[in-house]
Amino acid sequence: MSEIKTVLVTGGMGYIGSHTVIALIEQGYQPIIVDDLANSSPEVLNRLKIITGKDIPFFKGNVCDKAFLEKIFSSHKIDAVIHFAGFKAVGESVEKPLEYYRNNLDSTLTLLEVMTEKGVKNIIFSSSATVYGTPVHVPLTEEDPIGTATNPYGTTKIMQEKIFTDYAFVHKDFNIALLRYFNPIGAHPSGLIGEAPYGTPNNLMPYITQVAVGKLPRLTVFGNDYPTPDGTCIRDYIHVCDLADGHVLALKKLAQNPGLVIYNLGTGKGTSVMELIHAYEKATGVKIPYVIAARRPGDVAENYAGTLKAEKELGFKAKRTIFDSCADSNRWQQKNPKGYN
Ligand code: UD1
Repeated sequence: MSEIKTVLVTGGMGYIGSHTVIALIEQGYQPIIVDDLANSSPEVLNRLKIITGKDIPFFKGNVCDKAFLEKIFSSHKIDAVIHFAGFKAVGESVEKPLEYYRNNLDSTLTLLEVMTEKGVKNIIFSSSATVYGTPVHVPLTEEDPIGTATNPYGTTKIMQEKIFTDYAFVHKDFNIALLRYFNPIGAHPSGLIGEAPYGTPNNLMPYITQVAVGKLPRLTVFGNDYPTPDGTCIRDYIHVCDLADGHVLALKKLAQNPGLVIYNLGTGKGTSVMELIHAYEKATGVKIPYVIAARRPGDVAENYAGTLKAEKELGFKAKRTIFDSCADSNRWQQKNPKGYN
């Protein structure tokens, strides 16, 4: 057993990172945030202070900047790292492949180099269900093979998992958790922090919430001719606070020196696009106008998580319902129609 107390959170100002910072503080950990604010707002820090009552150390900079990282590791006793920082827009990754490969791979390589130099041996990596590619079956389990991603963003997740796996093979004293997220939605129940994408959202829930506040006129449902009960795609939507709790459980696992471990973080339950729209309307009383359009290239009909491994080995089980997620996403967007601006 090794004691983990101080946790460096890269990308800690982002959507999943900021919710995880709260979970860490609630469970007695001391987070330190590193973020270059490329895709997040400095206002998040103020909101985190209101929610937690704590001044959280924050360093603005890029994880690919080795000298910057070395300084932080030299001036703090860091026990573990949670690595969220990275570019994450699927469509943009197709337009800017080099930027995505450079940023996402370089940050992971630099982080591992600095951790090795400084003797910090515990890390959680933000992976994605996207690494499974087109599912051969559902639920997807951790034993299923890594697939082929349909875009550079997904490929960077696969490549980063590979970097961690090859590294762990020769560094048996390192503890690495690869967490494969399904579809995070929802927001902190305070309505103070939530998902705040720049520009028009690509993902379903932020699109719905912007329709709900009248920022966008209607939702476009991408395809209703999939081989699913109502014809629309099925995903495993997990409340971001459940996801955040999963990271704390993974840290507890790392403290037992398990080497490299891989877990899905999902609910194990599939919800279709139409079911999500209806759940949102029911949870919030807000009507979501929509039109049906063609399928979006690269989408798979159905994916949801096998959750047995995370439940058995981490004690992880998603607690919040799809209605909680809808109500919380809606509260966040109603209180912050322009995000953090
Ligand atoms: C996407 C990415 C995935 C990434 C995840 C989180 C793809 C193929 N996958 O997952 O790699 O990890 O986001 O960022 O892009 N939908 C609509 N209308 C919309 C938006 C979405 O009908 O305006 C539908 C989609 O067709 C899909 C479902 O909603 O069936 C969920 O879409 P989205 O939120 O983008 O997540 P994924 O595609 O599952």
